[in-house]
Amino acid sequence: MSQLPHHIAIVMDGNGRWASKRFLPRAAGHKQGVDSLRRCVKACAQRGVGVLTVFAFSSENWSRPAEEVSGLMDLFAMALTREVPQLKADGVQLHFVGERTGLSAKVAAGIEQAELATAANSRLILNVCFNYGGRWDILQAAAKLAAQGKPVTELELSGAMALAHVADPDLVIRTGGEQRISNFLLWQTAYSEFYFSDQLWPEFDEAALDLAIEVFKQRERRFGKTSGQLVALSAAPTVA
Ligand code: IPE
Ligand code: IPE
Ligand code: MG
Repeated sequence: MSQLPHHIAIVMDGNGRWASKRFLPRAAGHKQGVDSLRRCVKACAQRGVGVLTVFAFSSENWSRPAEEVSGLMDLFAMALTREVPQLKADGVQLHFVGERTGLSAKVAAGIEQAELATAANSRLILNVCFNYGGRWDILQAAAKLAAQGKPVTELELSGAMALAHVADPDLVIRTGGEQRISNFLLWQTAYSEFYFSDQLWPEFDEAALDLAIEVFKQRERRFGKTSGQLVALSAAPTVA
């Protein structure tokens, strides 16, 4: 049986539907989504999760109505300024993962300041995937290797990816009822456990997180081996 997941990744989906159900503008759902993320970060830190990676804005989200995109950018910039002092105090180390060119100067500066301010923290690593796509990441890593004249091996490519500073996710949660990856961590989820929740992201609370973790703990991660091999391995004495 598995331990607590060291790395949890979340596709925070369903903000728009949460708002629509309440006859509110979609922006209200995104705002509520920030509150839900704050709660989730705190819960992960309290439970001893080492890394939390969240999908906040995808490469494809630029194709939403201009008004929603600019609202999301404003909300992101505002959340950065508002949330960073508390995150810093709580021992959270922030990383922004994604294409930075194309972001406004305000957003880019906010990202840099937030990363700098929290760099010395080590309680929980929080990766915010923003202007991120799994295909973008694989391509930028391959281009980096090509430019450096390095061989394209699994180890080199992994090391050139935007999430090279953390181990692969153990558990991927997607809220909002859809069962798809939507260009999230394509390379890093090769052996992740997936958990899909019908709850909309703003409703995803501590109890929902705990349930996802409990389900994860019941999974048998075989990594290509047989169940019998795993039983034998866990029974074998550890060699010093
Ligand atoms: C996820 O919620 C947040 C972003 C993609 C920025 P959505 O905005 O996709 O919410 P739904 O899926 O329309 O309900
Ligand atoms: C995925 O949600 C991206 C984020 C949560 C940031 P989407 O709402 O964009 O995904 P699709 O379009 O339903 O696949
Ligand atoms: Mg959605």
